[in-house]
Amino acid sequence: PIKVSKILCIGAGYVGGPTCAVIALKCPHITVTIVDLNKARIDAWNSPDFKLPIYEPGLEDVVRACRGRNLFFSTDVEKGIREAELIFVSVNTPTKKSGVGAGFAADLNYVELATRQIAAVATSSKIVVEKSTVPCRTAESMRTILEANSKPGCHFDILSNPEFLAEGTAISDLFNPDRVLIGSLQTPEGKDACAALAGVYANWVSPAQILTVGLWSSELSKLAANAMLAQRISSVNALSAICEATGANIDEVANAVGYDSRVGPKFLKASVGFGGSCFQKDILNLVYLSESLHLPEVAAYWRQVVEMNEYQKRRFSKRVVDTLFNTITGKRIAVLGFAFKADTGDTRESAAITLIRDFQSERALVNVYDPQVVEEQIWLDLTEASPNVPLDSIKKQVKICGSALEACRDAEAVVIATEWKEFKEIDWSEVYKHMKKPAFVFDGRLLVDAAKLTEIGFKVNTIGRPGA
Ligand code: NAD
Ligand code: UDX
Repeated sequence: PIKVSKILCIGAGYVGGPTCAVIALKCPHITVTIVDLNKARIDAWNSPDFKLPIYEPGLEDVVRACRGRNLFFSTDVEKGIREAELIFVSVNTPTKKSGVGAGFAADLNYVELATRQIAAVATSSKIVVEKSTVPCRTAESMRTILEANSKPGCHFDILSNPEFLAEGTAISDLFNPDRVLIGSLQTPEGKDACAALAGVYANWVSPAQILTVGLWSSELSKLAANAMLAQRISSVNALSAICEATGANIDEVANAVGYDSRVGPKFLKASVGFGGSCFQKDILNLVYLSESLHLPEVAAYWRQVVEMNEYQKRRFSKRVVDTLFNTITGKRIAVLGFAFKADTGDTRESAAITLIRDFQSERALVNVYDPQVVEEQIWLDLTEASPNVPLDSIKKQVKICGSALEACRDAEAVVIATEWKEFKEIDWSEVYKHMKKPAFVFDGRLLVDAAKLTEIGFKVNTIGRPGA
């Protein structure tokens, strides 16, 4: 079997960074180099005081244990390619913004550029692993590009090894994955390459959890997993609308349904809408794939999961306006949380962005606080959400605050957009004292104890429950 001693990862982002740092930790005999074109990002990974470019619980400890030992971060992509035996391609694959498939298809430009660079630079055979989430059969395009551009004597094997980590729990997900999925061609060479990668994971993952399948199944499984996870949330969110209208309680409904062992209790939490860089992008990708395959009913089915999510966000901002006596013009709204979920500083597709944009267009004043998201990121997201509004005008309406308490001062309503634990634990009596009356709380995350807050004096509106 092929022995792997040098691994390269192209792309030092939310996936490449944590994934390959954990490989370095669990495989001290393997040298792992992570490269990126973005120098600022690499500098942050290399920063002497470990101010890493992404916030992820437990990540710093892993990097501290390996950096400079068998884990290296660099911008020298070419050197990395030449030296490695196995290369992860972990670059971004965002939704295309223009051209064919705009708004749906994955932009494979970064994957292709990385692939072409591997072909151009490699002077020995490599195993090339698709880590990025890509449409079904991308591995075939990669193989064609590599074979058409390779030097004599260089052979490339392509594997698909999608990543299932969730942000906020990346390190524990990587330490104890539900499964590791490796797809390969079912040829002797393909199977050998697959065994080589499986051998890397076998340093800490039990063989029963390493699934080896065909390339196309592996690629499609990743889109399928995200689509089915997101579909659960959209299902529960659709039911939350019925709960609000009928007096049922979504927590009780989800709990009752989840008790069925065929459904299971996890991932049934109603919310203001799912966010994150993956769900929407991957479903739209699946919709596009279905349409390209002339399967319009399949496409429409999955598209509805994203549409329900958009509806949920719209419905929530409308509820805020309706409850505040049909106008929020000139009123101060505190938005607690800007990240797309707790324990991350990532804001991609965060529901908070949509809510704040909606409040802005109602001419409200918004105070926002998030414990991890940096200020520049908030301004960047808000300008992108309202491209016709200059930043100066946005800044007249939106204020970024240093604490939850500060954000809630003089507000008419508090909107909980992210389930940060600290929002559960703030001194709500203190918050109440400094708010305008009646003081409203809109809990978009089923986070706070509605009964306790009502006792303090708040009018509490929780997702999936009738309003106060
Ligand atoms: P990211 O944007 O955080 O990181 C990608 C990095 O690749 C960027 O830093 C970019 O500068 C770099 N890059 C792009 N082209 C390059 C090139 N040619 N050479 C060197 N560096 C290059 O993205 P991410 O969140 O890490 O996602 C990466 C992939 O993993 C995507 O396909 C995504 O769908 C998938 N994925 C993401 C998650 C997640 O939770 N974020 C989970 C599973 C899968
Ligand atoms: C997701 C997948 O879980 C992961 O397997 C894949 O590799 C990448 O995409 P991520 O987006 O990081 O991970 O976080 P996840 O925990 O799945 O949450 C996504 C969004 O759904 C968040 O906005 C979260 O708040 C929301 N969510 C999650 C709910 O609204 N309700 C739930 O029950 C669970």
